[in-house]
Amino acid sequence: MKEEQLRDLLNSMSLKEKVFQLVQIPGQYFLSGVADTGTKTDGRPTDEELALVGSTLGIFGAKTTADIQMQHLKRHPHHIPLLFMHDVVHGLRTAFPIPLALGASFSPELVKQCSAAAAAESAASGLHVTFAPMLDLVRDPRWGRVMESFGEDPFLNAKLGKASVEGFRGCDGKMPEKGRVASCIKHFAAYGAAEAGRDYTGADLGGRQLREFYLPAYREALNAGADMVMSSFNAIDGIPATGNEELLRSTLRKDWGFEGVLISDWNSVGELATRGVCSDLRQAAKLAMHCGVDIDMCSFAYARHLEALVCEGEITEAQLDSAVFRVLELKNRLKLFEDPLRGVTPAGEERTILSPVSRALARKAVCECSVLLKNTGKQPLLPIAPERKTVFIGPYVDSKELHGAWAVSTDPEDTVSIRQAAEEFARVQGRQFIFSKGCRMTCREDLGPKSEESAVMAFREDAFPPQIEISDDPMLKEAVAAAESAETVVACLGEHRLMSGEGASRGELTLPEDQLKLLRSLQLANRNIVSVIFTGRPLDLREVCALSRSVLLVWMPGTEGGNGILDLLTGSAEPGGRLSMSMPYCLGQVPVYYNHFNTGRPKAENTKIPYYVSAYIDIPNSPLFPFGYGLGYTDFSVSGFELGAEKAELRNAAEAGPVTVRAMVKNIGPRCGQTVVQLYMRRPSAEALTPVKELKAFQKLALDPGEERELVFTLGSDAFCHVSADGSLHADKGTYRFTVGLNSESEDWKSLELL
Ligand code: BGC
Repeated sequence: MKEEQLRDLLNSMSLKEKVFQLVQIPGQYFLSGVADTGTKTDGRPTDEELALVGSTLGIFGAKTTADIQMQHLKRHPHHIPLLFMHDVVHGLRTAFPIPLALGASFSPELVKQCSAAAAAESAASGLHVTFAPMLDLVRDPRWGRVMESFGEDPFLNAKLGKASVEGFRGCDGKMPEKGRVASCIKHFAAYGAAEAGRDYTGADLGGRQLREFYLPAYREALNAGADMVMSSFNAIDGIPATGNEELLRSTLRKDWGFEGVLISDWNSVGELATRGVCSDLRQAAKLAMHCGVDIDMCSFAYARHLEALVCEGEITEAQLDSAVFRVLELKNRLKLFEDPLRGVTPAGEERTILSPVSRALARKAVCECSVLLKNTGKQPLLPIAPERKTVFIGPYVDSKELHGAWAVSTDPEDTVSIRQAAEEFARVQGRQFIFSKGCRMTCREDLGPKSEESAVMAFREDAFPPQIEISDDPMLKEAVAAAESAETVVACLGEHRLMSGEGASRGELTLPEDQLKLLRSLQLANRNIVSVIFTGRPLDLREVCALSRSVLLVWMPGTEGGNGILDLLTGSAEPGGRLSMSMPYCLGQVPVYYNHFNTGRPKAENTKIPYYVSAYIDIPNSPLFPFGYGLGYTDFSVSGFELGAEKAELRNAAEAGPVTVRAMVKNIGPRCGQTVVQLYMRRPSAEALTPVKELKAFQKLALDPGEERELVFTLGSDAFCHVSADGSLHADKGTYRFTVGLNSESEDWKSLELL
């Protein structure tokens, strides 16, 4: 439809029709034939209102969406199609590893491919918009939603965010491509700075922190064409994001020029009243509208109050029209006026969902994202030598709940468990494995792992475990006997999938207590333990590391989890992941992240007694495993690191470089493998503190044994500039220092003067 036609349509709409384009309701209202017949309550649309609603969320399926759409078109006075939105965060039916795992892949290409595959399944199922990627920078593993983020680094988040947006919608300019979906980035902004890791709190950030660390990834994703933005639940410096004029109007709309649709998070308009910045729902609707929130997700504030606010002159009709026009425009860009079903058919859906190609990609992704934390000994246990008698023990051996809390539309029945994959491997290779559960996933597993409520209770009880005497436990006895009979024990342990995700903040970062007891007992029976850890967040893994010779972190690996893990254990693939979030030494250290500001009293390498320096007296400052860390099945060396120049010119406040950085990387180990070479920079301090290190470039590469390659990184203005507190881009003159290495602890520095 041409722009004038869209304007004519808008002009022909009644006030109520306009308002309801801005109302989003849960899909269940359409499914259950809906509504009651006229009484208006806050949470339920009437039949008449339902016919006018602009968008819905949470339902998918080619037939379901087509039926609803066709009925809606008939009922709507102007035949305006509905938008179907949904959280396809890391896969619809094929679950890819959780985003925190994808962050560890350090591979924009992989992230793009996984998002594209998720978009293909979504589009084939009648969806138009995904609420993804989530681009909240995260530093505190207590927060359950770290699993949805790419990690703690602004540069990596921005690169992967861009790749994800391009994967979801395609790179073809204004319009999401055919067979893809529009991308709604979230949660704007700084939801990841959750205070004390507790969900829905505030972010106590100054403007400089916000701009330097938290905002860049959202911005890059918008530059990559993201169609929508979701405002977040949190407050920033006391102002809730959904009612934050400076954030939404000044930064997003004015400074960044965002012209797409801005949607609230679920009931975050209503929560403006709960939080007390508005006296009631009507004031909440007014404030959100004033800040430029176009769609009210599920709070009903717009549905109940916007019409009156316009009639009474508190919101102008022009303001309302701009918001409605943006929604109509999105529908138009998706070509819904011409083809309200976007060519979706049940046959096409059947072909696309869980296709062999998606499954193969998901399996590869497991290998690219898993991080090998430990593999010690003259003859490391991994990969497991074929002749070794191996047992698989632990609550994750048989589990099909490998998809994490946000793959909300997957069916665990589609998932390949470790046991299934191992049995298939054994069948093909003519080998035999033994399997044993050893203990329950959580103390209250008996209440049913699928009940969310029971899972939540289970975590609580794990924090205060009942005094169960487990030495008489038959499950444990069987596992210990199995461990005694074997040469290698693969202990498959981890958090329950619902221990991370929205609302799942934790105050402890250890494995459930029963699992630790199991591991201790296994280690007494057999020292050759490979621990395979499933988790949605960084954990305190000190004890696991002490009790195991090898530790493989597989996150929540998704539908092909079992197959990918077997590929890694048996060595047909090697772990390609490097941590994108620091693995804390212990709980008392969080938040711990590599790119912190320097202090006036840094702890020097050789400080013996850490008094009167910035340090703990009882634990190290460094995390157990740093950002960028991960092992493979071979070793690499980095040498010959040099800068292309010792001096460079700052041409104006924000133009410097390009500067080249070179280094030689060599595979010095026994087999081919891949690594991630990382370039970090330290800026000169000027009017403000600078991070001790900042990732500026990285490259993932595979080399054969003995093969050496020269890497050249070219740094342009982007690398030198940072965002000043007033929002402008700025580079400082002075000494810049660079280091190249295989994780963020690299300390081989070279300097460059920016004149
Ligand atoms: C979450 C969002 C999600 C929305 C819709 C909210 O609770 O915070 O991330 O997109 O629900 O499901």
